[in-house]
Amino acid sequence: MINERFVEYFRENFFQNKPKELEQFLSCIELSIPRTIRIKPWKEEQVRKNLEWDGWILTPTNINRVFAMDRREDFDPLERRLGFSSDHLLGNFYIQELAAAHPVDILAGSRINTESFLILDMAASPGGKTTQLAEYFPNSFIIANEPTRERLPQLLQNLERMGSANIGITLYPGQLYRHQEELFDRILLDAPCSGEWTLFKGTDAVKHWHLKNIKEIARLQTKLLDAALHTLKIGGEMIYSTCSLNLLENEWVLEAMREKYGNAFEIIFQKKFWPHIDKTGGFFVAKIRKISSLNAPLINENIEEKTEKEWRKSEIKNQNKNNKELKLFRGNISPWNTQDGITLYEHEWKILAIRNSDTGDRIRDTVFLMRYGEQIWTIEHGKFISGNRAWRYLDTSKTELYIISNIWELDTYLRGEPISNIGDDSYILITFENQILGLEYRKWDFISNTFSHEWRRK
Ligand SMILES: C[S@@+](CC[C@H](N)C(=O)[O-])C[C@H]1O[C@@H](n2cnc3c(N)ncnc32)[C@H](O)[C@@H]1O
Repeated sequence: MINERFVEYFRENFFQNKPKELEQFLSCIELSIPRTIRIKPWKEEQVRKNLEWDGWILTPTNINRVFAMDRREDFDPLERRLGFSSDHLLGNFYIQELAAAHPVDILAGSRINTESFLILDMAASPGGKTTQLAEYFPNSFIIANEPTRERLPQLLQNLERMGSANIGITLYPGQLYRHQEELFDRILLDAPCSGEWTLFKGTDAVKHWHLKNIKEIARLQTKLLDAALHTLKIGGEMIYSTCSLNLLENEWVLEAMREKYGNAFEIIFQKKFWPHIDKTGGFFVAKIRKISSLNAPLINENIEEKTEKEWRKSEIKNQNKNNKELKLFRGNISPWNTQDGITLYEHEWKILAIRNSDTGDRIRDTVFLMRYGEQIWTIEHGKFISGNRAWRYLDTSKTELYIISNIWELDTYLRGEPISNIGDDSYILITFENQILGLEYRKWDFISNTFSHEWRRK
């Protein structure tokens, strides 16, 4: 049954004297959200060809490289699940809802930015927008921040799948970034929210809708936006977005900042995506430019004070530990050299590939990075293990190839089952239709893929 509190709130605030439109809006609750994917730059032609061959119809949307996906009638969904296609496993595309693809597109001005920015993704997991930031800002260094431990594995998996040599991870409550005054050139605050966007998904979110919960989450959002405005450089730009539609989590959060900081920032773009109008999930996006420093005192609440002290203590301890342990990798990774622009670091038993950037070097001394760049190998007994995706960062032009010859063998490989009779022990580059799938170690005349378990085709 529909939640009357929810209906009343929206009738009163958005659809007064518009009963037909309210009805259209409410009718979206039962619908499923249209499926869209975002394809990586320079992979568009190849991914479109492969997916069309697999029975998908791709329709362009108003965002470059984002396509609406429909199934051909003779399509067998069990056989060709999008998430298990080889292009998905290789990180050539990300399944992302159209409205959710807007914030980063708007932050980047719909173009690939070649500047070397320091960027903060303040609330990052599961990483859809972090990986999009990396595509739109390839020469920048991105901090993906996520304080909720249970949401980390998904973030790590997505970063690994999509490639993350210019991304570092921090684990702070985003509010604490306000102590890093004017540090970031660009910020994405895709805030935790009440999630009214699920309105278009036929889920239970609306059933549990209550103004009391919304007020609580709006308080957190205000603190996060406050922190983001502090840590944004003068002249820097940021996005505030939520997947909610009510006023408290959106317009009123901006209004609270306006009251506090006056004209220290300007809102240069603002849009609310309505399910019944935009045919997307519900979404709110505002683009903000910082004009001058913020003078007002910080919000002083006891709980914040306490967390801050704890944070500073652990921060110093962690930083020292981190700085000591992360060192340039000086070992031999023969027969390969690293690709231009990539440096390898060694951290305990891991080898990390990091895209060279001054901004990345600077941030390493400022915050504790739980992960820096992409882990491409682990070292066990002097051997490189689990280096499946290392080819992304190495010069493999002289590495021996194994060419997968048909889709059945491809399926075997993607499922993690062995391919045998392929020669002597050594590293070998696995390819299919001119696309590299992995770098594997061939032992006892066979190989099987070393993707993380989650990414194996099932
Ligand atoms: C809307 S989700 C982010 C989705 C993500 N940007 C994406 O596109 O994949 C909001 C995230 O904020 C995190 N979060 C919750 N409290 C937070 C806080 N105090 N500071 C920063 N992030 C927080 C949640 O754990 C959640 O992962």
